[in-house]
Amino acid sequence: MVTPLRIVLPSPAERPAAVAAATDHWGSMIVTRGLRHPLADAHWLVAMEGSSLLGALSWRDAESDTTEVLTLDAFRPGQRIGAQLLRHFLAGCPDTWLVTTNDNAKAQAFYARMGGRLASVDIDAVVRARVLKPEIPLIGIDGVPIRDEWIYAWGRAQPG
Ligand SMILES: CC(C)(COP(=O)(O)OP(=O)(O)OC[C@H]1O[C@@H](n2cnc3c(N)ncnc32)[C@H](O)[C@@H]1OP(=O)(O)O)[C@@H](O)C(=O)NCCC(=O)NCCS
Repeated sequence: MVTPLRIVLPSPAERPAAVAAATDHWGSMIVTRGLRHPLADAHWLVAMEGSSLLGALSWRDAESDTTEVLTLDAFRPGQRIGAQLLRHFLAGCPDTWLVTTNDNAKAQAFYARMGGRLASVDIDAVVRARVLKPEIPLIGIDGVPIRDEWIYAWGRAQPG
């Protein structure tokens, strides 16, 4: 029998695993657009198969009645877990934006495919972010130096 994927707000018992899994990948604090965002303070949406965590999305309430997605992870990539999480999230929070980095071509293609528009590219934003978070690696996916923030937006969100 196939266990259906549940996209839900995590219960108090499920939330720590989501925070821990995202922290493993991104560290305990995300820096975007020059601001620090501790993951412990974020809101969460999770993809669960039974009691297994297959994906997690975190967000914050941002300026001008928008939301910013802080992290999105599909722990089994390519199985539409990321798409289901993001689609579910956008249904409730249509005016959303997020930041990815210049090295993450897969995420850029994924967000474009999910209806996001490239709102801006902030050259050298990651170079500046390392002042707040020195552990951001210099080299990212496929050996590409990580330098710039790419900002994607949905709905009425117009991040500058
Ligand atoms: C980016 C990520 C969240 C995507 O989630 P995913 O579950 O692997 O993606 P999905 O399987 O839901 O793919 C959704 C759609 O995007 C498409 N897609 C995915 N990767 C793609 C790529 N590299 N190029 C073009 N399209 C792509 C899929 O074909 C699919 O379209 P379809 O449903 O019409 O076939 C996931 O790969 C991930 O966790 N990456 C590591 C963490 C990360 O970089 N997160 C983003 C941080 S900004």
